[in-house]
Amino acid sequence: MENIYIINTHSHANMLKDTNIDEAMYNARENHIITIVPASTAEDIFDVDKFIQKYEDVYGYVGVFPEEAKTFSDKTLQNMETIIKSNKKIIGIGEIGLDYYWDKSLKELQKEIFIKQIDFANQMNLPLNIHSREAHQDTLEILKKYNKNSTAILHCFSGSLEFAKECIKEGIYIALGGVVTFKNAIKAKEVAANIPIEYLLLETDDPYLAPVPFRGKENQPLYVKYVAEEIARLRETTTEEIAQATTMNAMKIF
Ligand code: NI
Repeated sequence: MENIYIINTHSHANMLKDTNIDEAMYNARENHIITIVPASTAEDIFDVDKFIQKYEDVYGYVGVFPEEAKTFSDKTLQNMETIIKSNKKIIGIGEIGLDYYWDKSLKELQKEIFIKQIDFANQMNLPLNIHSREAHQDTLEILKKYNKNSTAILHCFSGSLEFAKECIKEGIYIALGGVVTFKNAIKAKEVAANIPIEYLLLETDDPYLAPVPFRGKENQPLYVKYVAEEIARLRETTTEEIAQATTMNAMKIF
């Protein structure tokens, strides 16, 4: 793995608590890991803007998470545009999407804010990093109907293999993280083993969902290599090949 890069397409490295952030970013970089940090709230976009300027090999997305739909306003879009124009390291819109797990009452508002941010990404010609939880069918329908020219990535993909294939048919990429290393994650393992490698991406979603052997502890960007290792095992190939293929996929998108 000496000279092979891994692109970690979703890491909230700015939210690490138990881990020293400078050290975590240094270790990631030393191990040839490029990290992309999404925003979650209308305020968080400013943090991400600052955070990614502080570290090398770290890029970002701006966007408002479905649970935070209430914090979104037209001013948010203006702020996002200002940041995109001043910071070349912003390379996508995220994390945006739908989450029906926590609060179903916000369904309509979530959809409205999701669509607004898809339109915005289309105007900016930037890819989408999408969070979808218990909202798979609505997410795909909205993308089919409203997304014109942005490449879409489903982050922390939690659907079935069948649904993954349906998404890939639409040109949507599938990003897998630490869950794939969990013993009982049968669906995620099946997706990892069987989707066309051209549509596979890696991520951590740290500080959450640390892969085995760190399950239950705080996750960090470096641990994306355990995700790559497990996917290599499932596909009966080498970690190098998974790293290389997923990095090529990410380079195509960004
Ligand atoms: Ni996330």
